[in-house]
Amino acid sequence: MLVQKNVPLQAFNTFHIVAKAQALACIRGESDVQDLLSDPNWSAAPKFVWGGGSNIVLTGDVKPLVLKVEIVGRRLVQETARAFIVEAGAGENWHDLVVWTLAQGYPGLENMALIPGTVGAAPVQNIGAYGVELQDRFESLDAIDLQTGQVFTLNAAQCAFGYRDSIFKHSSSANASEGQSPIGLKNRALILRVRLCLPKPWKPVLGYADLARKVLEHHCSQPLPQQIFDWVCEIRRAKLPDPAVIGNVGSFFKNPAVSPEQCADIIARDPKVVHYPLVDGSIKLAAGWLIDACGWRGKSIGLAGVYEKQALVLVNRGGSKHSDSATGGEVMTLAKAIQTSVYERFGILLETEPVVV
Ligand code: EPU
Repeated sequence: MLVQKNVPLQAFNTFHIVAKAQALACIRGESDVQDLLSDPNWSAAPKFVWGGGSNIVLTGDVKPLVLKVEIVGRRLVQETARAFIVEAGAGENWHDLVVWTLAQGYPGLENMALIPGTVGAAPVQNIGAYGVELQDRFESLDAIDLQTGQVFTLNAAQCAFGYRDSIFKHSSSANASEGQSPIGLKNRALILRVRLCLPKPWKPVLGYADLARKVLEHHCSQPLPQQIFDWVCEIRRAKLPDPAVIGNVGSFFKNPAVSPEQCADIIARDPKVVHYPLVDGSIKLAAGWLIDACGWRGKSIGLAGVYEKQALVLVNRGGSKHSDSATGGEVMTLAKAIQTSVYERFGILLETEPVVV
């Protein structure tokens, strides 16, 4: 098993931030993990699982051993009267999987087209877009314990999915508060394969405002999966920067949920605040709107900027070349300045979405 030293990570993170992994191993299957665990040089070393680098902000070199997941493979596991069960290796590109499932005639992932990152990272932050979240299409996953080398399977309930959240984002904690699981799998497990459940008969999900608008514009109330895929790609390309061209990690903050009283208070002062009721009675506010209302859209600190067409997205205004890239420090300085503005004006502390290393 080859462990490389001092590996540049700029090409492996979609923010294109310059940093190095002190040590990096490519993982192409569970035996690669088992080999590392039986190597005395690496068995006890802290480890950091790396997917597509599309949800990470690097503020310096990465000291733990980076396990870069490159497990491939896509297949139909089972077709029943109620669903197609599709399995993909954790290192597969998410968007390529969406395209492949549609081409094979297994629809259901079209609303999540063009989300950057790998299949293995999808359950970690329960990716979602345009009315569908990964948990709505999830069957199970196989992972390997990075301490024992044991392979185990988790179903949806065991993954503890939440809004951009799962068991893989939390560390184990002996004194977990009420309602929290004491078992967290952050840096403890590496996802090997993910199985998705694509329900039959297929039903379009068109409730999200941008998609509802497309239905009206095209006078097409019964679009096919490929049509929805095309619309989602159009919508995303119009308002989100392509990470291959402008470094970014998608939404930088989560949309905050507030109580109806707190929302009424904000509406009284800012009647245009974009808000949506949630099933639990709380109200979700559009963080992009809050940031925009504070005047941040298009602004920069150093080479870190707020995207002109979507204030929830922070971008690297430098190129993808070493000399003119934003640093992780600049990105976090900008993020903190935004958090302060939003807190001072609305009394809401925005929570960051990507992992900061
Ligand atoms: N808005 C503004 N100004 C802005 C940005 C947004 O007024 O600068 C308003 C929009 O006009 C709209 C509302 O805020 O009325 C919501 O904006 P949008 O529809 O773009 O969605 P979002 O809430 O900002 C979320 C997800 C995205 C996902 C889209 C579509 C989060 C944190 N983000 O964004 O996910 O693609 O909905 O479902 O939940 C990601 O997680 O990285 C991501 C891109």
